[in-house]
Amino acid sequence: MNIFERIEDIRAFSLEGKRNGKTIGFVPTMGCLHKGHFSLMKEAKAKSDVLIVSNFVNPAQFGANNEDYQKYPRMPEQDNALCAENKVDAVFFPGKDEIYPLQNSTWVIEDELSSGLCGRSRPGHFRGVCMVVAKLFNIVLPDIAVFGQKDYQQAKIIEKMVYDLNFPVKIIIAPTVRDNDGLAMSSRNKYLSPEERKKAPTIFESLENAARQFVAGEKRTNEITGEIRLRISQSGAKVDYIEILDAEILKPIDGKTKKVLIAVAAFFGATRLIDNIVVTL
Ligand code: PAJ
Repeated sequence: MNIFERIEDIRAFSLEGKRNGKTIGFVPTMGCLHKGHFSLMKEAKAKSDVLIVSNFVNPAQFGANNEDYQKYPRMPEQDNALCAENKVDAVFFPGKDEIYPLQNSTWVIEDELSSGLCGRSRPGHFRGVCMVVAKLFNIVLPDIAVFGQKDYQQAKIIEKMVYDLNFPVKIIIAPTVRDNDGLAMSSRNKYLSPEERKKAPTIFESLENAARQFVAGEKRTNEITGEIRLRISQSGAKVDYIEILDAEILKPIDGKTKKVLIAVAAFFGATRLIDNIVVTL
């Protein structure tokens, strides 16, 4: 497995693959890799010839007061070993100055799907995500790129960015991978105390319960969000948001809605966790 720190080297690797008629699959990550990331790699590997993974903790997407940028877990050696096990062909592991040598004054802003949910709680977050993903697409030149449903809003925003800006990249959204007790895998689960970790599966339990209510015909979204709020609050967490939206446009559901997104963000102690479920009507 190749590890490249420089833009020109990873781009040369990608171009070499293309010259040989290979398609390039890409999974962008911020490292601290877990089974969720590996499932995306498997999906990308199944749908392309050469698999490239990026490992870059992107400062531009950490919101107010840099959020947890400094303490975001970093373990590149372990990540590289796991990438090799997962049949990655090349890891792109740039330093901060390789990606942002100067303060950028150009931004990529998606301003429709980004306005609610995590966009409301974390101002500036998605312009940082769009910025780095656009840069990474221009650097890695992938044919396909795989994102996780775990970060549903992010995946939909990237899809829209690719559509609006005509990036020649096919976006695939892969299902959320969970621990045995239902908690969605996340690099941030490491921050949870043992007590918080025990309570955290409440998020998914309350989402599943909500989905069941929806399928059973309950259409009063206030009732459903109210019950999710109660369950999560009773577990000791502080709700950031609970929203039920049309999963395509991320707007309130109406008669035309075919898929419903039920999304939650909640703080267990200082750790903000997000999760979601999509119900097809
Ligand atoms: P990161 O949080 O490292 O996630 C990288 C990819 O893994 C994202 O597409 C995310 O949705 C997916 N992922 C995370 N947990 C998952 C799980 N439990 N199941 C399935 N997929 C999961 O998301 C980012 O990094 C960054 O914003 C990035 C896109 C790399 C831009 O900096």
